[in-house]
Amino acid sequence: MEAIILAGGFGTRLRPLTYTRAKALLPILNKPMVFYLISMLPKEVDKVILAVNYRKDQIEKHLKNNDFGKEIIVNDEPEPLGTGGAVKFAEKHITGPFFVLNADIICSLNLDDMIDFHEKKNAVSTISLWPVKNVSEFGVVDMKDDGNVIGFVEKPKPEDAPSNLINAGAYFLEPEVLDYIETGRLVSMEKEIFPQIINDTRKFFGFEFKGYWTDVGRIQSYIDVHKFLLKNQQLEYSKGNTCEINGKLSESCIGNNVFIGENSNLESTIVFDNVKIGKRAVLNNCVIGENCKINDCSRLTNTVVGDNEIIVENIVLDNKMVWNQPVPHGYPKKQIGNVIGE
Ligand code: GTP
Repeated sequence: MEAIILAGGFGTRLRPLTYTRAKALLPILNKPMVFYLISMLPKEVDKVILAVNYRKDQIEKHLKNNDFGKEIIVNDEPEPLGTGGAVKFAEKHITGPFFVLNADIICSLNLDDMIDFHEKKNAVSTISLWPVKNVSEFGVVDMKDDGNVIGFVEKPKPEDAPSNLINAGAYFLEPEVLDYIETGRLVSMEKEIFPQIINDTRKFFGFEFKGYWTDVGRIQSYIDVHKFLLKNQQLEYSKGNTCEINGKLSESCIGNNVFIGENSNLESTIVFDNVKIGKRAVLNNCVIGENCKINDCSRLTNTVVGDNEIIVENIVLDNKMVWNQPVPHGYPKKQIGNVIGE
């Protein structure tokens, strides 16, 4: 059985961190995000197809250096084809019913249960669903009691919402779904293909699951997923190898080879590898990229600092994105699309 992992997006909402790396490789508790997804795949999935485009070389290198006990195929799109186009482009590797997973979800979804559900319903498509409180920020499903999805409603008012369930970014599909996708053009699975399958087959089902789910699409959700996983493991903080910590850390995660000076205080902050933080620095709800230097007495709140940046001493930054280098060629100026539907 095959699983396609969609990992070709630019991750514009996570810039400047994604100026220099694929979103799927962003570290979560010091492990690339996509590794969590690969490790939750059922045993019967023996082939993982990484649908890539932006920063494909980085993804290839990381995956080739690790043994997941499954065949890994890095399927490089000539240009971004969207969530549907990327699936069509992987068609040659598909031999039966298959998973499609967004690379940026961290969740407790049990994919074996999802297969069972799909088979019991004799479904053509099964889509994972997650309940939310703020329905008006998402596309929600309109679904019968037996899980049969009738349609999606974009950003409804709470009183008009047919449910509180949203697309959680994991699908189990019959191969016939591939016939709906045109070859070689940008196609959105969610906006173009799913509505057609609902109309034509009436065998489109929603699989709600319990536990936890995060779409690691924004800086805040990236920080929050760390806090959640730390809490789950009853850790106040986590750190990589060869770190020297002279300050205080709470609900924070630091990478390898990080130095933190005396009386510095990090709260709800993620620090990547090879970072030096001086004395009496205060960082709250921040992400600090690789090879950065944060000088003495700086105070950063709700701020993200891209790789290789230097923050001068005594500076106060609130709600800032720090990036003083050229934006990589071809990187989009704004978000191209958001399939989850925030
Ligand atoms: P934003 O620019 O911040 O919206 O992030 P994104 O580019 O990752 O887009 P989004 O979060 O909407 O994408 C959901 C998933 O689909 C992510 O895992 C993306 O990597 C993936 N994805 C989006 N567009 C493409 C594409 O054109 N090709 C491939 N292979 N994957 C894609």
